[in-house]
Amino acid sequence: MFVSEKAPAKINLTLDALCKRTDGYHELESIMTTIDLADRIDLFLRNDQKITLESSSGLVPHDEKNLAYRAALLLREKTGIRKGVHIRIYKHIPVAAGLAGGSSDAAATLRGCNRLWRLGLTDKELIELGAYIGSDVPFCVHAGTALAKGRGEILSTLPSPPLCWVVLAKPPISVPTADIFQRLKVDQIQDHPDTKKMVQAIHEGDYGTIAKNMANILEPITFELYPEVQKIKERIKKFGADGVLMSGSGPTVFALVKTDARAKRLVNSLRGFCRQVFAVRILGA
Ligand code: C5P
Repeated sequence: MFVSEKAPAKINLTLDALCKRTDGYHELESIMTTIDLADRIDLFLRNDQKITLESSSGLVPHDEKNLAYRAALLLREKTGIRKGVHIRIYKHIPVAAGLAGGSSDAAATLRGCNRLWRLGLTDKELIELGAYIGSDVPFCVHAGTALAKGRGEILSTLPSPPLCWVVLAKPPISVPTADIFQRLKVDQIQDHPDTKKMVQAIHEGDYGTIAKNMANILEPITFELYPEVQKIKERIKKFGADGVLMSGSGPTVFALVKTDARAKRLVNSLRGFCRQVFAVRILGA
């Protein structure tokens, strides 16, 4: 018996930090949406209670360091189920890219094991479990579009942004999220994103305002440490896009464009500078 789950990547249309908490995490406000760039997770029932994992990518760990493995383990521990699973990950989302690939694999494993092991947990329960695995996992369980608050686990559903192309460029570096957050000085943030305006623009389906108001307070920190990320952003701006932003803590930079022709042109222009370039649709809902 086996089940298959899609694990889509996310982008942050806004990412803001309000304060540093006593537990070391930051109180966030971030609007996230899923895009049509996805891993596939196949889950095979094992009756021997073991959790095993294989992946099409040599870049992801095959043990507890893999968030999908941890998701299955957590679900087994919390429910006491005496079953196992073999997890097969077909990796398409770049690794350590700011696109929540690992978190989305974990979310898909929670959803999939819930079905495979017939646990009957609700989405709300899966979201709560997701928070134990990582700050982006609750959103990835929720999927679609949402405003995330708290550590990332307090979610308000938003409608899908208007249909458009998302062109992504990932420079060949990995950015450790914890390093970037550690350097963040919340009281020195000069321009906070206008989250309210973005929420309203999404409700109104106002593509122009969405594209113009994208902002991420982690950008200056990543740009200083990895100037090539800023260079990619500048290049995309020069080639022409309605909005350009770094996703999460980077290094992936994404651009919104409306027409097929402009998406194609942008991808072609970027190919010479960056090996990993994608053009995908917003999934959004
Ligand atoms: O929760 P997760 O392990 O994905 O977070 C990675 C790192 O990002 C944390 O170690 C922390 O440094 C930072 N972080 C934060 N505040 C959040 C979420 C993540 O400071 N709300």
